[in-house]
Amino acid sequence: MSIFKFEDHQALGRVRSVDTATVIVQVGDVERLRKLQVNRLAVLQSSRPGQHLVGIIQKITRSAIEEQESAEEGLVENAKMTEVNLVRITLIGTMVDKRGAASNVFLRTLETVPEIDANCFAVEGETLTNFMRVVANIAADGQRLSLGHYTLDDKAEAFLNGNKFFQRHAIIVGSTGSGKSWTTARILEKTADLPNGNAIVFDIHGEYGPLEGPGIRHFRIAGPSDLDKKSGLKDGVVHLPYWLLSYEAMVSMFVDRSDQNAPNQSMVISRAVVAAKQAYLLKGKHDSLLKNFTIDSPVPFELDAVISELKELNTKTETGSSGREKQGDFHGKLSRLIQRLENKRTDRRLGFLFQCPPETMDFSWLEQFTSALMSGSIDQPDKKGGIKIIDFSEVPSDILPLIVSLVAKIAFSIQQWTSTGKRHPIALFCDEAHLYIPERQASGASDVSVEVFERIAKEGRKYGLGLVVISQRPSEVNRTVLSQCNNLVAMRLTNGDDQSVVRRLLPDSLGGFGDLLPILDTGEALVVGDASLLPTRVRIEPPRQTPNSGTVQFWDRWSEDKSIKSISEAVTSWRNQAM
Ligand SMILES: Nc1ncnc2c1ncn2[C@@H]1O[C@H](COP(=O)(O)OP(=O)(O)O)[C@@H](O)[C@H]1O
Ligand SMILES: [Mg+2]
Repeated sequence: MSIFKFEDHQALGRVRSVDTATVIVQVGDVERLRKLQVNRLAVLQSSRPGQHLVGIIQKITRSAIEEQESAEEGLVENAKMTEVNLVRITLIGTMVDKRGAASNVFLRTLETVPEIDANCFAVEGETLTNFMRVVANIAADGQRLSLGHYTLDDKAEAFLNGNKFFQRHAIIVGSTGSGKSWTTARILEKTADLPNGNAIVFDIHGEYGPLEGPGIRHFRIAGPSDLDKKSGLKDGVVHLPYWLLSYEAMVSMFVDRSDQNAPNQSMVISRAVVAAKQAYLLKGKHDSLLKNFTIDSPVPFELDAVISELKELNTKTETGSSGREKQGDFHGKLSRLIQRLENKRTDRRLGFLFQCPPETMDFSWLEQFTSALMSGSIDQPDKKGGIKIIDFSEVPSDILPLIVSLVAKIAFSIQQWTSTGKRHPIALFCDEAHLYIPERQASGASDVSVEVFERIAKEGRKYGLGLVVISQRPSEVNRTVLSQCNNLVAMRLTNGDDQSVVRRLLPDSLGGFGDLLPILDTGEALVVGDASLLPTRVRIEPPRQTPNSGTVQFWDRWSEDKSIKSISEAVTSWRNQAM
């Protein structure tokens, strides 16, 4: 059954002229013209039966022109003025009632063009919902990711093809306060409603704390105050022992690139860490691993052993060929490295890396941690997925990229090393992505992180790992990662640089949509991509549980006549490095 059932009397008007993909329709009835809006969909009769052409309204004009006849006769003073209402429509595809065995197929090609005088209709209400379902390639009874309603028609439900949304990665962009976090919460909520939805949320500011429900679990990267409490995974507190760091990450953390001894230091670290991992494997009798492990293998090692090795090299003397004592190759060259290592190790803010509970040194710890991360199975014997919200708010900002990418890398590795048939797809929600997936810079402090996310963006699909990149500064987010995101949820965007980045992600033929970016309402989004072939303007339904906005109401608080008592508490916390 065709989803387009139009009768002639419903027509808005008739085709006046046709260009390759642009059609001018003349609308006779002024009332009908008033109802039309730019960016709304229109359908045109095709010359082929069983087909309709679909277009987007680009421009509506109403002008008075002199009637031709009188002008030709030169009777200018008697010329009559008539109103002409014209609508310019850009054709974007063809709706075919039947194609082989399939009915209602939308093609992004124009197999025909409309004829002069062909009827033009508006797409509204149920027809719009049905049409969007066809466009999103979702069977009438298929699972869909419901976002809200179309701005232009609040009766028509707006949804996406959830497979395509996560398969081909997505970005959610918009200026601060445009509604990104609420949109994210809405998508998370819909994911959590599925019996086996699976996602990890990098919650940088602890915004998603209020989201609760059967499919949702909360974790927090251990802060200074957790160190004394001996809290662990079961309390939702995550430690990420240093031995999980890749070699690149260790170097970027411990070695000062500007130090003239940096290359020596990197090399020494590499040797010492390999030796310490080997010692761990020998001690635990993991013989099979001894042959195959590399510096990046997830094998625990004793940091103490590494530091003593470095100290020894730093002071070592040896007997030269002349028989005299001389300084070793690394004598004195590692002092600053050792100093940095010692500082990091005692820094309470980095306690989640260097002051972990003893069980994190167990060989089996990685399995427990990754089970919690990937299947949430710590408190869930059924080993189903779920939404894992990880609060990174206590991670110092200078190492945030290293730590977020560490978790992302673990998820990637687990997916990569799971056999194809057993893999359960998982999505990574990267809130405030510009902070840890930045455009590459000369200084390179985030190189390690960018590399991890570029790899996920490029290869994640193969392994059932989807990215959802969320940012208020798309122009500062890594371009390679952005270019791999085939779904766009763009909310109000006021900055010019950010707008131009987003415009480039819109399909060429629909350039006009970019003009909407600065004028979208809060909670309103422009949605386009694999999961929704046609760009649409959607009013996102607020989530049942809303994220913490974290917005301080300056004026309201200043209006309260209260004394400020919190300073001494702050000083104490600051000194103790614990809230
Ligand atoms: N879908 C929506 N419907 C109605 N109001 C919304 C919606 N999304 C956001 N808002 C309003 O806008 C505010 C900011 O939204 P938020 O998602 O925190 O913005 P962002 O994450 O982009 O900074 C919210 O506190 C809420 O009042
Ligand atoms: Mg936000």
